[in-house]
Amino acid sequence: MKKFGEQIYTPEVEDKLAISKRENHTPRIEAPKEVKAGEVFAVRIYIQGHPNTVQHSFRWIELYFYETGRDFNPIFVARAELTPEIAEQEASFKLKLNKSGVLYALAYCNLHGLWENRVEINIV
Ligand SMILES: [Fe+2]
Repeated sequence: MKKFGEQIYTPEVEDKLAISKRENHTPRIEAPKEVKAGEVFAVRIYIQGHPNTVQHSFRWIELYFYETGRDFNPIFVARAELTPEIAEQEASFKLKLNKSGVLYALAYCNLHGLWENRVEINIV
């Protein structure tokens, strides 16, 4: 029986089917590498080149934060629900952090499962 985490397609998953879908399923993250503590900044998550139809589309995007030094991680940050054909397959959130860490984007395709990407954020 697979653990839940083993069913998430991360950039490291070697599965051939997953690799063939990676380019247009991995959520891309636009975020600054460095921000000042407590300063609001924007994060944009988008999927490029993927169908957006009722039959096949990304249905939601979630954002989590791994805070360095925190006992329990991750912290849930935000979620965007996407209606096929009407909503573009992207989400933008405004964040304010006080500690460095890693932002994780999760995006769910109704046919091809759960895809993850991540970026480091350094608080200066
Ligand atoms: Fe898909």
